[in-house]
Amino acid sequence: MLQDLILANRSYRSYDMTQPIPHEVLLAALEAARFSPSSVNLQPLRFRLIEGEEACAAFLPLTGWARNLPNIQLPPAGHAPTAYIVICQDLTVAPNPTRFNRDVGIVAQSMLLAAVEAGYGGCMIGNFRAEAVAEQLQLDPQRYLPQLVVALGKPDEEIHLVDLPADGKTNYYRDEENRHFVPKRRLQDLII
Ligand SMILES: Cc1cc2nc3c(=O)[nH]c(=O)nc-3n(C[C@H](O)[C@H](O)[C@H](O)COP(=O)(O)O)c2cc1C
Repeated sequence: MLQDLILANRSYRSYDMTQPIPHEVLLAALEAARFSPSSVNLQPLRFRLIEGEEACAAFLPLTGWARNLPNIQLPPAGHAPTAYIVICQDLTVAPNPTRFNRDVGIVAQSMLLAAVEAGYGGCMIGNFRAEAVAEQLQLDPQRYLPQLVVALGKPDEEIHLVDLPADGKTNYYRDEENRHFVPKRRLQDLII
């Protein structure tokens, strides 16, 4: 059911590297992106897959994780993603770098839901070094603008959704057993 998938689709930051996400699952994720809505149906987004131990190890340092938890190393050593999808805008289709940000979010969520349905998971990474990414992936800077990274793998951590605390803080946090808690606003507080 869709709601179950949405609930299971958390931002995972620790992965079982002995179970790399299969290439077919990445293709299923791209199919989910392909059929997602696009403003004026321009479909300006393109995707670079990063797979394999070596490529993933080289890519990890370009990504930033869990700004709310600066004292915890995430992903932990030995628990890194086993693939990444870099969502790029093809500037020859649409030169405005911000107009299609909504398309980016939509395809990212579609891809993550497809991965979760297949028993995997991931995390959107907006905190990445775009120039370094373009350079490492040898992307033509005139053409492909990296907009968002989706990290993927077999999650091996526990994440719990909780109501916002009384102080109203939205920061996610971890307990001493390294369980991750994500406060979400209550339904009645969302409706204007
Ligand atoms: C557009 C976007 C960019 C994000 N970028 C990062 C990031 O750079 N690093 C990170 O660790 N998490 C990132 N996240 C994950 C959020 O921190 C996460 O969605 C939030 O803590 C709520 O957790 P949940 O996804 O499990 O509901 C991003 C999420 C979104 C939607």
